[in-house]
Amino acid sequence: MRHFDYKNGEMYAEDVPLRKIAEAVGTPCYVYSTATFERHYRVFADSFDGIEALVAYSVKANSNIAVLATLAKLGAGADVVSAGELARALIAGIPAHKIVFSGVGKTKAEMRDALEAGIRVFNVESLAELRALNAVALSMNTQAPVAFRVNPDVTAGGHEKISTGKKENKFGIAWSHAEAAYAEAAALPGIKIVGVDVHIGSQIDQLAPFEAAIAKCGDLIKTLRQQGHTIQSFDIGGGLGIPYGDNTKAPPLPSAYGALVKRLTADMNVEMIFEPGRMIAGNAGILLSEVLYVKQGEDRNFLIIDAAMNDLLRPALYDAYHDLEGVKAPARDFKQETYDVVGPICESGDTFMKGREMPALEEGDLVVLHSAGAYGAAQSSQYNTRPLVPEVMVRGDKFAIIRERPTVADILKTESIPDWD
Ligand code: LLP
Repeated sequence: MRHFDYKNGEMYAEDVPLRKIAEAVGTPCYVYSTATFERHYRVFADSFDGIEALVAYSVKANSNIAVLATLAKLGAGADVVSAGELARALIAGIPAHKIVFSGVGKTKAEMRDALEAGIRVFNVESLAELRALNAVALSMNTQAPVAFRVNPDVTAGGHEKISTGKKENKFGIAWSHAEAAYAEAAALPGIKIVGVDVHIGSQIDQLAPFEAAIAKCGDLIKTLRQQGHTIQSFDIGGGLGIPYGDNTKAPPLPSAYGALVKRLTADMNVEMIFEPGRMIAGNAGILLSEVLYVKQGEDRNFLIIDAAMNDLLRPALYDAYHDLEGVKAPARDFKQETYDVVGPICESGDTFMKGREMPALEEGDLVVLHSAGAYGAAQSSQYNTRPLVPEVMVRGDKFAIIRERPTVADILKTESIPDWD
C-alpha cells in the first residue's frame, strides 16, 4: 500500500491532499506519512519474530523528533552518532538502554553524555577511542559497555561514498587487529566488553554481502569466547536497500533478510541488534516542490523547481535516482516531455535528474520527489541562504508542521559583524 498516491485526480499523503499542505506551509517542504513509518518499522521488526532482537533505528537517516517519537511508541531503540542525536532520541522517549552509540570520532564530552544517560553500548572503532572511553568512564567511576565495530573487508553498498566495510574505509577495527583489541579492552577497568558490531554499507541490494559479514563475525565471536570474552550481543548495523523506482535490481525484502539472519545466527546464542535507517524512513517521505519556470535550452528543456540541492543533496552527492511526479494526476491525453530537472542554486550539480521523460508540466505545478524520507531533511543545509526546508507529518486526515521554515532573520540572528575597534 502506497501512502503517497493519487485519489480523485491529485496526489495525497495518506488522507491529506498535498495541495493543501503546499497552501498551508509553502514549498519546498518535506511531507512524511506516519502510517508508512509504522508499517516499515513493523515489517522490519516482525521479520525477527522469535529471536531476541533490538531494532535501533539509525537516527541519521531522519532525525526529526516527531519521527523518533513515532518509532519510540512502537518499541524502537536508536543508533546515534553524536551528542545531538543522543539528545533527540532521549527527548523523543527512546529509553537509554535501547540506544547504541556509533561513529569513528566520538568526543570525550559525547562519551560523558552517553555514560551519564546510561546507554546500551558504545560501538568502538579504534584502540585510541577505547583508551579515551576507558579514561572517561574511570573519571566517572563507572564502566563503559563496549562492542568493537570490526571491519570484515566485505564489498557492499549502493555507491562508493556509502560503502563502509572494506579495509580501505575509515571504519571499524582492522580484521587482523580484532582479537588484540578485545584482549586490551578486557584488561581496562573502565571497559566492559558486551558484544561485536559490524556495518558494511548502505543501500545494499543483495543478501550475499550480509551473509559474508555475518559468517565472518560468527567465527570471530566463537574465537573471542574461546579466549574468555563474554559476547552477549551481535549488532549487524543497517544497510538494507530500498526500491527508488529506477530499474536497478530490487533489494531483498526485509523478510528475506530476516530469514537469512535467523539462519546464520541460530547457533550463536547472542542478542541481535539492527540499525536500519533508510529501510524505515526512505519511502516514508517525499519532497514537495513547485515548478518555477520551464526553460527551453539549446538542446533540452529545463524544469526549474523551487527545491534545490541544499534541500535534497542525494542526487548531487551520490548521483542518486529519485522519482518525480506531478501532484495533479496526468490528464488522460497527456503529452510526454523530456526534462532536466534542476534547482535554483548556482551550481551545475544542482540537478535532480537529466533527460527524464514524464508527462508535461507547467509553471506553478506542484511536483513530488519520491523516496526522500531518508537522508533528505537530515542532510539539508542553508547554502545560498535558503532557509532549512520545513517538515510536515501526516497522520490519516491530519497534518502537523514538525520543523518550521526559519526566516532569513532567524538565520542572520546567529551571525555578527565584529566591532574591531
Ligand atoms: N549504522 C551505521 C553505523 C551507519 O553508518 C549507517 C549509515 C546506518 C547504520 C544506517 O544505514 P541504512 O540502513 O540507512 O543504510 N547519506 C547516504 C547514506 C549514508 C549512510 C551512512 N551510514 C545516502 O543518502 O544514501
